[in-house]
Amino acid sequence: MRKSLRQSTLQTLGLGSVTDIFRNGRLPVDAGDLVDRVFGGPDDRGSLVISGANGIVGAGKMMQLTSRLEPFGVKSIGLSRPRTADGIGPHYPGLVAAVGQERADRIMGNIVRMTYDGTSLPADLGKWRPRFLLEAIPEILEIKKAHYRLFRAAFPGIEIRSVTSGFPSSELGVGVAHPAFPHEINKVWEVVEKETSSMTQLLWALGLIPVPVSDDWSFVLDVLFCGLTLAGLEYHRATNMPFWKIDKYLRKLVGPNPFRAHDVIGAKGANSLTWSCLHHLGEKYGALFRPTPELDERRVTGQNWYPLNHFRPLVNWPMDDEAEAEFTAWIQGALFQMASLMLHEQRAHLSHINAIGELCAQFRRGILAMIRSVGVEAAIKNVEAYHRLHPEAAGSCWYPAVFEQLGSPEWQQLYVNAEHDGRVGVVTISRENYHNDVDTELNRAIDWLKAEGIANVILTGDFHLATQMVGADISEFFPALDDAEAGRRVARTWSATARRLYDEFKVSVGFVNGKRCLGGFLELLMHCHYLVAVEDAVLGMPEVTLPVVPGMEGCHWPFRKANRPQWPKLVRMLLTGAPVKAQDAVDWLIDYSGPMQDSLQTVWRFASGGAAGLTMRKLDEGMLKGVPADIGVSVSDSPATEAARKAIMETIRDSCGVPLSEALDVQARHSADFTVSSFCREGSIGAEHLRTMMV
Ligand SMILES: NC(=O)c1ccc[n+]([C@@H]2O[C@H](COP(=O)([O-])OP(=O)(O)OC[C@H]3O[C@@H](n4cnc5c(N)ncnc54)[C@H](O)[C@@H]3O)[C@@H](O)[C@H]2O)c1
Repeated sequence: MRKSLRQSTLQTLGLGSVTDIFRNGRLPVDAGDLVDRVFGGPDDRGSLVISGANGIVGAGKMMQLTSRLEPFGVKSIGLSRPRTADGIGPHYPGLVAAVGQERADRIMGNIVRMTYDGTSLPADLGKWRPRFLLEAIPEILEIKKAHYRLFRAAFPGIEIRSVTSGFPSSELGVGVAHPAFPHEINKVWEVVEKETSSMTQLLWALGLIPVPVSDDWSFVLDVLFCGLTLAGLEYHRATNMPFWKIDKYLRKLVGPNPFRAHDVIGAKGANSLTWSCLHHLGEKYGALFRPTPELDERRVTGQNWYPLNHFRPLVNWPMDDEAEAEFTAWIQGALFQMASLMLHEQRAHLSHINAIGELCAQFRRGILAMIRSVGVEAAIKNVEAYHRLHPEAAGSCWYPAVFEQLGSPEWQQLYVNAEHDGRVGVVTISRENYHNDVDTELNRAIDWLKAEGIANVILTGDFHLATQMVGADISEFFPALDDAEAGRRVARTWSATARRLYDEFKVSVGFVNGKRCLGGFLELLMHCHYLVAVEDAVLGMPEVTLPVVPGMEGCHWPFRKANRPQWPKLVRMLLTGAPVKAQDAVDWLIDYSGPMQDSLQTVWRFASGGAAGLTMRKLDEGMLKGVPADIGVSVSDSPATEAARKAIMETIRDSCGVPLSEALDVQARHSADFTVSSFCREGSIGAEHLRTMMV
């Protein structure tokens, strides 16, 4: 009997369920096999061609793809027009910093650069056997279509994908692989194709994040990003507030500062892309998307949105509550209406629609999580208030009925899913930062598994949207900066969730499947009876560097599971914040580390009760004495670090010094008390709070 709380996002890529990954003891596809399928076998290996390779997208994707495909012997061909400035070379220093000079040189050496006149392909291109073309040339439909004709005439079997920001595949006549800025770093690609291709699965197998979306204008990302920009522009028209100031309020309300982002990407190109997306959306859907005259003008002039620093007035004034409520109606009203359209058109899996805003457009919370947090009624009221302010938008594409599904598992489990096979449950988390929504969803997932009678559980990342687990979302601590009770509440609530993994299952196994597991996430996973990590993962407790005091039992739980001689390693990890390699953490922090396949099989053995011979590290529930305070960490010259170390050491001593039943409260209190101290308020969390919230 197989069941899942909702469809896993992995299934949208034709890659099966996460349970199957553990049950089969291997990942669903292999990068080498897929390279053979896309580029031909080793004797007949063809090449990747990127056209527009000196452009922003072309050059970035050249770095990202070449660094992953070079080891498989796939040549990268960069095709450019003459008289374009080198876009690839400037990436070299960043590449060296990321992978070292030797590897960077090999990657660069794998790129063949060709120039052509735009109308006839270079004669010797054929000798590289082009198999896959990633088209990254300007956003002009006729130019793109002519380009495909040229390639198809020369290489009839070639697979083509366009990086277009907004043209549907039905207009282009090729599939879409739309990447997100910054292109050398961001792993997300919105993909439009009739059925999942080997190339899309290959992107996944190479550690990237392809996300299937429907074939509608501007897909999901650019509805959100261009839509938010437009909402800001409309507000500007109504109030004349300068763009830089609108940005500040947008950052506070939603997360991104879109006008600054246009300038950073390059206003000339970005203005014209935003205009193009909105123009076409406006043609299809009406006034909700139509560009304003300010954007029409800047599309032509390419002018920046921000004035030079010295032209920004030094005298600033905040909005009062009433004005801020009106601002919220302008912005959220527009965004919520746009979201209703995307849901009505079923543009993507709900977790995808939500995650795209967070991963690609700096939304603090995804659009659907935002709607969920205000509730159906308030969301609809918000859009109605927006329509009173901007009546033209009311005329089309407003689908309030879609919000009525808010109680469904798809809406309720945006970040956490659960599945089981009748015996073993698998809980997956698709967000890299732990926050209240994840916590609530995790509780619901656990409730569901328990109601299904499942006693054995695996807790892991989702093998798709989250490629690592980097700890708590620091914006969750903003209220705790001046309210110790708020801090205690977060620490207590999250720790109680973590304890469910220990208390409520016969066997629980945490699995670190990505490259990092840090802070709050490591604390969460260490509550499992067993903890397994792939060998190239790093683990750590970087709280001291922020500084904060860990709040999810990291200061006593691992001591209770480790032998006394191992305690100095734990103290060192907590006091320095230095990460440890998974393989070096076996026996004192985790139970097993190995290559992916071995790790998957070990997790399954633990979880399915076949772990005979492997003893569980027992949790000492009593009072621990003798945790060493002096483990030879040299004194830091930062008073904040020293203060945090002292507070962490006290937390270790006090929470280890009481029985398990009391330790949760002791640790929560210490953590909350430090968060209201000047060291935390003046540290990273305080600074971020000041930057984003104190407008
Ligand atoms: N800029 C972004 O952040 C972003 C994000 C996602 C998608 N896109 C899409 O990427 C595509 C390219 O945008 P960009 O921002 O990289 O533009 P860009 O102007 O930086 O790069 C385009 C490059 O294509 C070259 N070019 C023009 N005609 C060509 C041809 N016939 N053959 C080969 N090269 C040709 C140009 O000389 C230029 O170097 C567009 O479709 C855009 O919508 C852009």
